[in-house]
Amino acid sequence: MVSKALQLFGAAAVLAGLVAAAQPGAVKPVSAPMRDLAWGKLNFLHTTDTHGWHGGHLQESQYSADWGDYVSFAHHMRRKADERGVDLLLVDTGDRVEGNGLYDASNPKGQYYYDIYRQQHVDIICTGNHELYIASTADREHEKTVPNFHETYIASNLDYISPKTGERRAMAQRYRRFKTKNQKLDIVAFGFLFDFTGNANNTVVQPVRETVREPWFQRAVRENPDVFVVIGHVGVQMPEFKVIFAAIRQENPLTPVLFFGGHVHVRDATSYDSHSFAIASGRYFETIGWMSVDGPLNSASAPTFHRRYIDNNLLGLQYHAGLSAETFPTEHGRNVTAMITKARTELSLDSSFGCAPQDYWMTRKPYPHKDSIYTLLEKDVIPSVAVNPNRKDVPRLVIVNTGAVRFDVFKGPFTIDTTYIISPFLSVFRYIPDVPYAAARKVLDLLNGAGQIMDVAGLDARYMAIPEQWAIKESIVYSKTAERDNSMQKPLAHDDDDGDSSKEPMIVQGYTTRDDIGTDGDDAIHASIDFYVVPNCIQAEANLPKDDEPETVDLVFFDFIQPWVLMALKLNGLHYASEDVQSYVDGTFTELFAGWIKGNWPKKCGHGK
Ligand SMILES: *[C@@H]1O[C@H](CO)[C@@H](O)[C@H](O)[C@H]1NC(C)=O
Ligand SMILES: *[C@@H]1O[C@H](CO)[C@@H](O)[C@H](O)[C@H]1NC(C)=O
Repeated sequence: MVSKALQLFGAAAVLAGLVAAAQPGAVKPVSAPMRDLAWGKLNFLHTTDTHGWHGGHLQESQYSADWGDYVSFAHHMRRKADERGVDLLLVDTGDRVEGNGLYDASNPKGQYYYDIYRQQHVDIICTGNHELYIASTADREHEKTVPNFHETYIASNLDYISPKTGERRAMAQRYRRFKTKNQKLDIVAFGFLFDFTGNANNTVVQPVRETVREPWFQRAVRENPDVFVVIGHVGVQMPEFKVIFAAIRQENPLTPVLFFGGHVHVRDATSYDSHSFAIASGRYFETIGWMSVDGPLNSASAPTFHRRYIDNNLLGLQYHAGLSAETFPTEHGRNVTAMITKARTELSLDSSFGCAPQDYWMTRKPYPHKDSIYTLLEKDVIPSVAVNPNRKDVPRLVIVNTGAVRFDVFKGPFTIDTTYIISPFLSVFRYIPDVPYAAARKVLDLLNGAGQIMDVAGLDARYMAIPEQWAIKESIVYSKTAERDNSMQKPLAHDDDDGDSSKEPMIVQGYTTRDDIGTDGDDAIHASIDFYVVPNCIQAEANLPKDDEPETVDLVFFDFIQPWVLMALKLNGLHYASEDVQSYVDGTFTELFAGWIKGNWPKKCGHGK
């Protein structure tokens, strides 16, 4: 074992010498015209919703740097801060787990992740909802990440219940007061989670409105720091941050309040007043957020704020650090890259189920469309895998929420890693037998179109869709022509030779973010990518008679959307309870999809490999 590890470390180090760093096998980074970072007195690097992508995006040239590269980058940026006599702090706002094989593929989950993640020094860190869905995940967060970041982990509105004693305690300290290294700026920092209710029963999330009334919070907001830093697994447009902001402002009319948010997977920034600023830094370790504050602190004249969304692109990181491919990687960064390589190898993440014949997109193509992953699922995959052997001839409707798919499928090998990337959730098919068709047929439209009706019933229909759509403020009534042109993802790997630095860099597709501050947030200048709104749910049909309507059908759906489905049936006058819902087919959706690929896509891509 030891010798294998050393061998791997050696191989990674040699490769690192050639391509600087990133994972072996990752596509080459592509350069882009760059916008610089504006330094201030106090500067921040921010990650959020990394969801296990600490190995980087091996198939996407814009985001192929890894956690080791970020360790190197932070090292250089701290040194730059020291040279300038200013301060740099690192922030992470949760959802570090679930969504990539590096976390999900081991048993127990996260066998490698916790040690890899802790290699970065993070100054302020909090919890996301994904750390809390499953009791064992929350246990591991409490046993590993909380002690790993003992000084810096904050849980302002989160308690943990010990499985041994049953005792309920704060998950970590409620807030943190500290002085920055170089200027001795006095910081009071909080770490929040939005008013999440889907957590396992070994944690307790206190609604933010109640937390700000707690005596400890009211004391903390009277501590007169130079700056308040509020980090949270909360979208910057969500009401929770506004409640916290109002509570701080009430006692501190002029103190700068800086917010770092996440959860909704978008690049976003806003300010709540002239002395406050808020940033959200995307998702899946595509983005490293940058915020700086300069000018007077705690004065009637407002400070200046800057934000930048840094692509997790090795060439960009080297550019901002002012270093070359040779001088950029630190020994520690290379070690972390090697740790990730070793983990990926031991988890066989590159082992392939089959070869995707083309790209399938979530939102880059409309739905329905031959290039939409949802059309692929609806027409081919679901009818073939959602089959109960005892009821295979019974007419059925199968409803799947689009949020169960979390990433595009790229042409090429569909690997063990891909299965976790596409669908990190352990979604299973459940069903109600023999539902009158007249009512069953109306369920899909209620789930998709009738957001307000669901809202009245206390169920937010948006949560069935992908997080990237939660941020769209108006309740979405899905329309096949709806389209948004900003923000999103996905430049593809190109083979272009970018070695010639005398050439103008080609503009590749990527984030073109528009936020409340303007359109200059992205560090790399990209061509924009189409974004098509998708419905909350899609529906596959099987065995429906051609010319006739069936009396009844089996109504099959993912377990996650059961509350909405039962509500939609109720709105149609049919009262079903949880006891009426049964398991439909063995295995998780992820396993069923992988099985379908084995049977339907070519084993290997092209020739050779
Ligand atoms: C949580 O639920 C499980 C399973 O239903 C139960 O065994 C356990 O006692 C509960 N724990 C707490 C802290 O309520
Ligand atoms: C990097 O790894 C090598 C080999 O395991 C070890 O000797 C060295 O101390 C590590 N360096 C850092 C900075 O982590």
